[in-house]
Amino acid sequence: MQKLLLLVGLCVLVAHLEATCPRKLVCTFQSIPNLNTANLNNFNMASHMEPELCTHIVFKSVQPDNAMVIPSSGGPIQDHHNFNLAFPSATAKTLLEVDLTQTSSAIFAPLNMATFNTSVINVVDAAGFDGVNILWSQSHENEQDKIGFTALMQELNAALEEMPGTRLLTASVSGVPSDIDYSYEVPQLALVVDFFNVMTADLDRTSTPGQFAAAIAGMQKLVAKDAPKAKLNMGIATYGFDTNNANPKIWAKYQACVAPASSSTVRVDSAATIDAKAQHVVDEEFGGAFMTSLQLDDFDGVACAAGPFPVIQRVKDVVCP
Ligand SMILES: *[C@@H]1O[C@H](CO)[C@@H](O)[C@H](O)[C@H]1NC(C)=O
Repeated sequence: MQKLLLLVGLCVLVAHLEATCPRKLVCTFQSIPNLNTANLNNFNMASHMEPELCTHIVFKSVQPDNAMVIPSSGGPIQDHHNFNLAFPSATAKTLLEVDLTQTSSAIFAPLNMATFNTSVINVVDAAGFDGVNILWSQSHENEQDKIGFTALMQELNAALEEMPGTRLLTASVSGVPSDIDYSYEVPQLALVVDFFNVMTADLDRTSTPGQFAAAIAGMQKLVAKDAPKAKLNMGIATYGFDTNNANPKIWAKYQACVAPASSSTVRVDSAATIDAKAQHVVDEEFGGAFMTSLQLDDFDGVACAAGPFPVIQRVKDVVCP
């Protein structure tokens, strides 16, 4: 009996520790293969996903149509449904990503914004997401859209706050300093988002192994623009690139681990670099890490022989000690 009680106690403790990561470990998931990615393994939601590996899962992504309405089924909405079916008691927060990078500036007109808001809120409500992650940036001066993006986020925040339960609003933002200048009214956005996912994952793909100066510069830029550090999640990739290509092809971690030795142009973060990036998150007191992507890590642990999700697990060991 005492042994049993001890065991139960340990289980409760472990479950508690699992649920109380002091930082965020936000992971993206996308089942639709990126066209730039060769030979994707089939990720099976029920058998491969580890529901408590990450604190938040961002399901990528839907885009509004010309009427500024997002789809209400398929893609990430189906993936999220499959996740809930397989893991009904998962505690990880789920976010629907809406990608606005291909959407025209017309979305920032008040009537379109209202249509967009209604469609997003309806889908989040019907599908039972814990919140929305909006992806947007621009790489040229356009003050009107920069202001429009703030207004859109303020409207979504107001709408999400009216919903029952706690709903999150987050933003995936550029990690390129000039794009940050062009795109975001950082202090205003910081008031309405729960956190920023900074897309620094592949900024340092061609630099010296072990160095990530571009990622550091992007994070510093947001801090300089008064983003609270605790709301910044630094992007870290689970994949690499074949740099011997004008349009570098993505190599999933499971591909990189079994790449022939001749593939000297394949760049993927070493264990030491992954550890250094995760430690940077801790040392700088950022909110957490933003991992792209679950399905590009060695999710079944076969190719790298280092257990399932070796990259995300390595980061987790540092940011969720
Ligand atoms: C957004 O849409 C929801 C759902 O239709 C609505 O309840 C809410 O009032 C809207 N919010 C704003 C700020 O327009």
